Amino acid sequence: MSERPAPIVIEARAAQPRTPAVDISPAEIALLVDRFYADIRLHPRLGPLFEAKLAGNWDMHLERMNRFWRSVLLHSGEYSGQPVVKHNALPGLEEEDFRLWIGQFEATAGALFAPDTAAAITIIARRIARSLWLARFGTPFNQAPEWLA
Ligand code: HEM
Repeated sequence: MSERPAPIVIEARAAQPRTPAVDISPAEIALLVDRFYADIRLHPRLGPLFEAKLAGNWDMHLERMNRFWRSVLLHSGEYSGQPVVKHNALPGLEEEDFRLWIGQFEATAGALFAPDTAAAITIIARRIARSLWLARFGTPFNQAPEWLA
């Protein structure tokens, strides 16, 4: 009599708890996104750049940006998109616009959060801004500017 085959055991590993990159809540991220884009819309240079692409679609953009920042800061894994492709396709985007963007981001985060939290978020934003800048303006012969370091 042949032996019974060993039963197949499928083990599920317990879900790993996600470690947030920054100590911030989804509600605080929503506040950051709200305030940041409210400020951006009033910005004399950046406002029209965003408006040209997002007129009538701001709600969708804000939702997407909430997902993006929750994924980045809380590792929630809920954002998927193509930021490089989207920014490379933006008409009229100039190198210095990233400096303005970072300046506004720092101002908004600094106004909302404790200095440690604002600094932690801004470091991450700068890192992403640098990669978007390099994707659009980088060549084998130049590097991201000092102010994006
Ligand atoms: C130079 C300044 C910037 C301008 C003028 C700008 C403008 C825009 C615009 C108009 C869109 C909508 C694009 C579309 O739907 O086709 C967009 C999308 C987005 N932006 Fe920016 N952006 C800037 C910098 C940044 C930076 C520094 C970050 C991140 C730290 C960022 C993150 C994103 C993300 C995640 C999206 C959504 C992409 C997608 O999944 O569709 N942007 N941006």
